[in-house]
Amino acid sequence: MLRLENVNAYYGESHILRNVSFTIEPGQVVCLMGRNGVGKTTTLKTLTGLLPVRSGKIFFDGADVTKEPTDRRAKRGLAYAPQGREIIPHLTVRENLRLGYWTRSGSNPNGAEQAAFDEVFGLFPKLTQILDRPGGVLSGGEQQQLAIGRALLSNPKLLLLDEPTEGIQPSIVDQIEDVIIGFKNSRRFAILLVEQGLHFAARLAEKYVVMAKGAVVASGKSDELSAEMVKQHLTV
Ligand SMILES: Nc1ncnc2c1ncn2[C@@H]1O[C@H](COP(=O)(O)OP(=O)(O)OP(=O)(O)O)[C@@H](O)[C@H]1O
Ligand SMILES: [Mg+2]
Repeated sequence: MLRLENVNAYYGESHILRNVSFTIEPGQVVCLMGRNGVGKTTTLKTLTGLLPVRSGKIFFDGADVTKEPTDRRAKRGLAYAPQGREIIPHLTVRENLRLGYWTRSGSNPNGAEQAAFDEVFGLFPKLTQILDRPGGVLSGGEQQQLAIGRALLSNPKLLLLDEPTEGIQPSIVDQIEDVIIGFKNSRRFAILLVEQGLHFAARLAEKYVVMAKGAVVASGKSDELSAEMVKQHLTV
């Protein structure tokens, strides 16, 4: 359902992504790993269209989306919970969530909006207590719950999660892990999870893609990660 073919991307003249290729199947959870600065977030930015691809192709849900703008890809079902979470600070939690819902394509019958919000509130009950609070004042953990909730409201086919547990207290990390396991078991959509913690990734992902210096250096099933690969490229 997602295929990157020899993607090269630059910031100005800096060549960041070098012939990045990998695939994601429908409903699959794939973990993108690698040390700081190897190009994980940059890979997600090229997937969403926030950063143009200099050469190579991106196919999503049967279409070549390489040159498509970000909003068109979002309408196709590509949702993004960014590393900086990018909550809109002057909008309330409720308004931030609505933005996610508005990205949905297709017909949304009466009652669908409430049902979709109820699902998010079931996963993240904390959000119900802070609906009228401006996004800009939320704690890191609250922001992350809002970012995932907002992405979920768009009814994605592929959810991009960039380090959802970064800088978050253990109890909320556990909660986020449970939510991701629930998504995985439901098989409603695929997930590309960026995560540096090997143990967290190994519990969740069926497939891994390891990057170093802008290139993919290994990929495969999660239980096949070699000790050498872990030592060289990952944080345990
Ligand atoms: N806007 C930008 N302009 C120029 N260079 C950038 C920009 N954003 C990122 N880079 C550089 O691109 C490289 C890859 O960055 P990227 O954010 O993709 O790394 P990452 O793998 O997500 O790292 P981390 O684990 O720290 O989040 C880094 O060397 C970074 O300094
Ligand atoms: Mg990053």
